[in-house]
Amino acid sequence: MSMLLSPVVIASLNLKNRVVMSPMRTYSVQTGDGKLNPLHFAHYGARAVEQVGLVVIEVTAVEPNGRTTARDLGLWNDEQQKELKKLVDFLHDLGTKVGIQLGHAGRKAQDSVNIVAPSETAYNETTACPTKATEEKIQEIEAAFVKAAKRAKAAGVDMIEIQGANGFLIDEFLSPLVNQRTDAYGGDLRKRYRFLHEIVTAIRHEYDGSLWVRLSLDDYVEEEEQNKLSDWQQVGQWLKEDGASCISVTTGGLLDKKPDYIYTGWQVPYARAMKEKVALPIAASGMLLDPKLCEYILETRQADLILEAHVFEQNASWIADATEEFHEGTGSYADFERHLDEI
Ligand SMILES: Cc1cc2nc3c(=O)[nH]c(=O)nc-3n(C[C@H](O)[C@H](O)[C@H](O)COP(=O)(O)O)c2cc1C
Repeated sequence: MSMLLSPVVIASLNLKNRVVMSPMRTYSVQTGDGKLNPLHFAHYGARAVEQVGLVVIEVTAVEPNGRTTARDLGLWNDEQQKELKKLVDFLHDLGTKVGIQLGHAGRKAQDSVNIVAPSETAYNETTACPTKATEEKIQEIEAAFVKAAKRAKAAGVDMIEIQGANGFLIDEFLSPLVNQRTDAYGGDLRKRYRFLHEIVTAIRHEYDGSLWVRLSLDDYVEEEEQNKLSDWQQVGQWLKEDGASCISVTTGGLLDKKPDYIYTGWQVPYARAMKEKVALPIAASGMLLDPKLCEYILETRQADLILEAHVFEQNASWIADATEEFHEGTGSYADFERHLDEI
């Protein structure tokens, strides 16, 4: 029986399988109002028809200045909440669970009139220098996260994910590469974690459903300059204490840098590192195109859930094909290793 395609109860979610549609910005808001439109219904509906266990709606800004561009989704008013409820109901009718990723773009907000970040350092030479967030502004943004979470809950989502990765505002606070503050929100790891801690605990107060956090475990610079894997493991342990239900592991996005080499399963070692030290379900991503590799990752406990983004663009019937492949009984990588031992 395939772990990938069997029902599972995990991170407070009753899922029909472990395939998760990873959040992916569609930049499809046409009118700058942050509202869902028919394209989003088609985009997410298609994945639900393909039978993914959980759809995670792309990053949705908690306030207007927290969008990367005016084409991003938002969740700060009643109209946006109304449309979200329609999408959630639609996806539920199609038989999938649905979550939403809430975020604030920080210094990556291109269309913002007031770009804020932990410190006054720009993303690259072509982007504007942000204003250092005052403590008052920090609290305002934290409150915006909580309000958006309450709206998501009212819209009926099964899961809320906090975008703590990819160089968005929370990631900027977590990283010594961007956070040069000397107040309560900067300095050692615990202080850099404070912003995320306050968001998670405040949302937990209002929402007892599945609460995920996405983290980027590598910024592709020398190890001594960035958070080490052991730092991220510590953050994972704090998140567990704070009530998170799952950690979604990715890499990059903080700096204008990319890894030299990308290959099938390239981000899985980071998920495995998290899994080794943090007693929470872990979701892994990164070109997980081969269902048997996914099965191997699950069977060997390197991750608990499989995130897929590009795969569905390449093959709209990926889950159906995987079902057939497993049904034929051709086994997994783990079976292969077991049989090796038998010889
Ligand atoms: C166009 C695009 C938009 C993305 N948008 C988001 C997003 O909104 N939130 C997020 O956490 N990750 C986002 N990602 C990252 C994906 O969720 C995923 O982690 C990444 O594409 C690796 O998975 P894959 O190899 O299956 O594509 C985006 C990726 C792409 C290419």
